[in-house]
Amino acid sequence: MTGTKRGGSFYDAPQVAERYLGHRHSGASSPNHVMEEPAFLEELGEVTGLRVLDLGCGDAAIAQVLLDAGCRSYLGLDGSAAMVDAANAALCGTAGRVEMADIEDFSAPPSSFDLVVSRLAFHYVEDIEPVLAALHGCLSPGGRIVFTVVHPVLTSHDSGVRDKRTSWVVDDYFLQGPREREWMGGTVTWFHRTIEDYVVALTRSGFSLSSLRECAPCEARFAGDADELARRLRVPLFLLLSGMRA
Ligand SMILES: C[S@@+](CC[C@H](N)C(=O)[O-])C[C@H]1O[C@@H](n2cnc3c(N)ncnc32)[C@H](O)[C@@H]1O
Repeated sequence: MTGTKRGGSFYDAPQVAERYLGHRHSGASSPNHVMEEPAFLEELGEVTGLRVLDLGCGDAAIAQVLLDAGCRSYLGLDGSAAMVDAANAALCGTAGRVEMADIEDFSAPPSSFDLVVSRLAFHYVEDIEPVLAALHGCLSPGGRIVFTVVHPVLTSHDSGVRDKRTSWVVDDYFLQGPREREWMGGTVTWFHRTIEDYVVALTRSGFSLSSLRECAPCEARFAGDADELARRLRVPLFLLLSGMRA
């Protein structure tokens, strides 16, 4: 895949960032809101005094939550100019910062950060192990990483479902590699890895595995919509892993 545009560029195609952010912040109809975010916030734990790095930060909506919870600093990185603009708007007047950069190029001196987060960005990265190794190297001892990706059940195969999803076909599961999808009005490339691949990449990079979650829906976030909850109980959409630097 050398020479292929990196993941951030997808969000700079006309209307993609706008469409994505509209969907992302649509409340109970957003799977991020009812599935990914509750698990992510539970796994974050105490952030007071921590220097936080967020890879593929998008509009950096999480920054305010982290700053309000007392983190010492927040740096978001994103490869999309449109997303960096949105993040700059969200961070205006806060102590948070955002920079435009590709995840694949990340490097920082040892002990630069205490907590790395990345939400739904690592499945855009072809080779995740060098990235995880660089993140391990930039964390302070005892530092943590918490990240989410689109669930491998979904990235394995395109079932062709474009509307409300109630079931999914899993196929080519053990074939690691790129998958093209029609998504958010464009063609995106995601990189499929199995759950095992993610765990092995994390532990080979020097992290001890702290948690693995499949982000089951959080009933309290459905505003009483029982049908939507029932639908979300059918197919896993997100995988969360967290690890610690010894
Ligand atoms: C699905 S969005 C998630 C945004 C944000 N983390 C959230 O949860 O709302 C994925 C983000 O990752 C960024 N991204 C994808 N591939 C990237 C790469 N290789 N380097 C830097 N950013 C990337 C995109 O620009 C986009 O903002």
